[in-house]
Amino acid sequence: MLLDGNDPKVIERAAAALAAGQLVVFPTETVYGLGARADDDAAVAQIFRAKGRPADHPLIVHVADADSVRGFASLVPPVAVRLVAAFWPGPLTIIVPRAAGIGTAAAGGQATIGLRCPSHPVARELLRAARQAGVPGVAGPSANRFGRISPTRAEHVEGEFDDSLMVLDGGPCDVGIESSIVDCTRGHPVLLRPGVLTRAQIEAAAGEPLHDADDAAPRASGTLEAHYAPRAPLRLMPAAQLHTALQLLGSSPLKLAVYSRPLPAGTGSGVLHRVMPERAADAAHELFSVLRALDQEGVQLIWVEEPPATPEWEGVRDRLRRAAAS
Ligand code: TXA
Ligand code: MG
Repeated sequence: MLLDGNDPKVIERAAAALAAGQLVVFPTETVYGLGARADDDAAVAQIFRAKGRPADHPLIVHVADADSVRGFASLVPPVAVRLVAAFWPGPLTIIVPRAAGIGTAAAGGQATIGLRCPSHPVARELLRAARQAGVPGVAGPSANRFGRISPTRAEHVEGEFDDSLMVLDGGPCDVGIESSIVDCTRGHPVLLRPGVLTRAQIEAAAGEPLHDADDAAPRASGTLEAHYAPRAPLRLMPAAQLHTALQLLGSSPLKLAVYSRPLPAGTGSGVLHRVMPERAADAAHELFSVLRALDQEGVQLIWVEEPPATPEWEGVRDRLRRAAAS
């Protein structure tokens, strides 16, 4: 059920549905989320069922503002305070120690919890209205079935779940890839998932260096290899290799899609070519939409040019690497 997320009456209805323990799909600036009230384990259990996601995978809890952190965290490490001050509302999730007795299902049973205050106006209105209806936070993974591409438009959610589910349309997501996740529970900040924020931006706000996730990191579906996968096999190649491969391919009967910077003259005829934007933020914005569109064209293979090895491309490189790993 597609509804206009900018309609105040729709927001009230959706907030009431959340308060009653029902699921609601809502837009954020990163991707669309599949929400349930985070303080109700039975409501959250429906998310795992709808997504087909294992119940021990922790979800992100969306909150209306920085003050709401205290309802879910047993303590807020100073580095988390600094990150929140710098990036909220916005595409950053912090992992903090979880308060006893709340968000157990949302946290996948872990002693920590992921929290994020999104900046999308529809998400903000919904979280505000939900809080007024007694909902302290909304657990919300990306609104796709387990292992599939995250939705960045309301239309992407159609057909994923039960038709009776409320889907709030808030237009295309600005950012386009999921939030950066920083674990603030380990004495030093650890980047669990890169997003559009660069390491330099996060480190400047944290006031200390960012560490990389290691094997001690909790299980997290966002960090599993075969994730964000289109149906067609995807291969990542440096530009030179891609151009050679296209020359060798000649006029093959394969239905091939290419997502790359402009191709040299004379290559790529007969393939479905989408031009990768020059700016990382533009590529992030369209990435999941492009992969979905190529799948819909029924292509058999997707060849993608490796993006530049520069910091601002880290989030896009990460999603492409995972898509290629499946
Ligand atoms: O941008 C986003 O973060 C989107 C929108 C909807 O807000 N949400 C999202 O949720 O990507 P999801 O469930 O697809 O990814 C949540 C990821 C988990 O896979 C895990 O990597 C991490 O967040 N996570 C959540 N809670 C955690 C915890 N307690 N410890 C470690 N990682 C956690
Ligand atoms: Mg996801």
